[in-house]
Amino acid sequence: MTPGDTFIRRTVGEPPRDTASPAGSCILVVFGASGDLTKRLLLPALYNLACDALLPRQFALVGLAQDDLSTDQFRSRMTEEIRKFTTRQMFDAQVWQEFVGRLHYVPGNFADPAAYQRLADFLARLDAECQTGGNVLFYLATPPAVFGSIAAHLDRPGLRRRESGWARLIVEKPFGSDLASAVELNRALRAHWDEDQLYRIDHYLGKETVQNLLAFRFANGIFEPLWNKTHVDHIQFTVAETVGVEGRGRYYDRAGALRDMIQNHMFQMLAYLCMEPPTSFRADAVRNEKAKLLEAVRILTPEEVRRDTVRGQYGSGKKPDGTVAAGYRQEPDVAPQSATETFAALKLFIDNWRWEGVPIYLRSGKRLWKRGTEIVVQFKKAPEVLFRATPAAGSLDANKLLFHIQPDQGIEFRFHAKTPGPALYLQKVDMRFDYRETFEAGRGTGYEVLLYHCMIGDATLFSRTDLVESAWRIAQPILDCWAALPPEDFPNYPAGSWGPRATFDLLERDGRRWVEVVNRHVLEEVPLFRQADPVFLHNLAMMLKPVVYSPGAVIIRQGEIGGQMYFICRGQVEVLNEAEEQLRTLGEGDFFGELSLLLSRPRTATIRAVSPCDLFVLDRADLQRALQDHPQFSGALWTNARSRYQLPEETGEEDRPAP
Ligand code: BG6
Repeated sequence: MTPGDTFIRRTVGEPPRDTASPAGSCILVVFGASGDLTKRLLLPALYNLACDALLPRQFALVGLAQDDLSTDQFRSRMTEEIRKFTTRQMFDAQVWQEFVGRLHYVPGNFADPAAYQRLADFLARLDAECQTGGNVLFYLATPPAVFGSIAAHLDRPGLRRRESGWARLIVEKPFGSDLASAVELNRALRAHWDEDQLYRIDHYLGKETVQNLLAFRFANGIFEPLWNKTHVDHIQFTVAETVGVEGRGRYYDRAGALRDMIQNHMFQMLAYLCMEPPTSFRADAVRNEKAKLLEAVRILTPEEVRRDTVRGQYGSGKKPDGTVAAGYRQEPDVAPQSATETFAALKLFIDNWRWEGVPIYLRSGKRLWKRGTEIVVQFKKAPEVLFRATPAAGSLDANKLLFHIQPDQGIEFRFHAKTPGPALYLQKVDMRFDYRETFEAGRGTGYEVLLYHCMIGDATLFSRTDLVESAWRIAQPILDCWAALPPEDFPNYPAGSWGPRATFDLLERDGRRWVEVVNRHVLEEVPLFRQADPVFLHNLAMMLKPVVYSPGAVIIRQGEIGGQMYFICRGQVEVLNEAEEQLRTLGEGDFFGELSLLLSRPRTATIRAVSPCDLFVLDRADLQRALQDHPQFSGALWTNARSRYQLPEETGEEDRPAP
């Protein structure tokens, strides 16, 4: 995960402003303490807790790993690392100095029983010295292959079996690589640990914006009555990443997008968004509802898997900074003919009273055009009868509630408003709550809240055995069916694009579209909009709809009556005359299709995709609104049209169709 997606109090040393108080005394033992997770996430999170006075007053951390380090070496290594990985703007050397004195290191091999005895002896001494009340948290920041054996080795006096205090076990993902291995891992863990001692971390549940789904749904009276099949048309979940596999090819090539993102993080968000109201926020009350929800997800048949799922793998392309991105098969530690999906999309249904018949679309992929986790709840459309006579009737859109999970953090509601003036014209507008504007907060790693909750013994944010297995029960038939199907024609999307075309077909077949969340900064990359007024760009962002074309596909045909203009986000198109001769090509940042809208004439040329193309579409009614309300944009478009199509100088305002 990327640090910086959740909020913690900003000011160094500032006393906590909420009612949270320091967690109770304990020792945290980290298995695999010399690894990446410890320095990148755990240490910065613990340091943040220390700065916010939420760390237990009596606290110690014991790192255990194979590296032959002394406690002093471990402390100085961590002191170097925290400077690199802290999420705070100002480094509080005093808090760190006090914190680093609580770090200890015990070298040991995870498979060596003697290492566990040494650990038990060390913990006994440390507990007496630090007055930690016998409480111990064991954190498995290790490869998953050793989860089961460490959990078993820990089941001895002085470790799990304690004379006083509690013992808890924190397990990092992945929880199995398929249903059978997840069941086996759960069996291995449960053979030695009780359910209430197990804390399985899914870092998505540490994100403020994900936790806020519950506050939003259950602390506000107006949404719950609408939260069902009567009012909701469908729901979309998107987790887009710009990064590739980042040196994790060895793991990822055996995982793929469905296992890595959808089966865990996205199903957790799905459960939060769609579950029934729990009777309290106690761990089991929430986890029971999540489990019921996942159990109600319809298991796909092989035929449905073929129809309602999409797999993709990126080929070479571009990174957001414009540099070349290698294709997935060229990444280190990835098989040259790998059939692993780096993108997946699914359509699911929840077969319960609340959601029956409401499609749930999920998609996630690596090396896409932008980083963004978003949830869209699209409501049913208002009947159009009242607006038949207005120009906006054709584009009367459904209301949408958008949860911006990351990197933007907020909630947005999109609806129609009447534009000022004597006539009844409609425009899409939005109401938006932005975390940054409302809360005075700094950035954290997301692990603060998870570690804190483990320390206070609140398991609400952690997965239970049945939840893990229910999530695998949904994913397994898809994995099985994919494995049995002939290999896909990979790569099927270029790095830096919107993903495979089939993902868009998945919704278009149902008469729906993905909501591609664009912001002003993306639009400013388009030369036409570079100097544009921010209000115009904000409005435009809501009007644009995404569409993807494969090479060779005809986008507009000469002679047809056009209803839309297009902006090229990625890819290249060719402009053809009647004889299908190429007149010119257009690329990123260009636009086309505007002439027949400006002049109300049939299309004067055919436009065909030369490469995979990601386009934004602007409907006629929206264009007319934009022309009318933003003279600067109208002027720029006309100037361009006059020179591009050699129109007489005077062509312009007078030719514009009446709105
Ligand atoms: C991890 C996956 O669980 O989540 C990674 O293994 C992925 O592949 C990461 O990049 C995404 O986390 P975040 O917090 O950046 O959305």
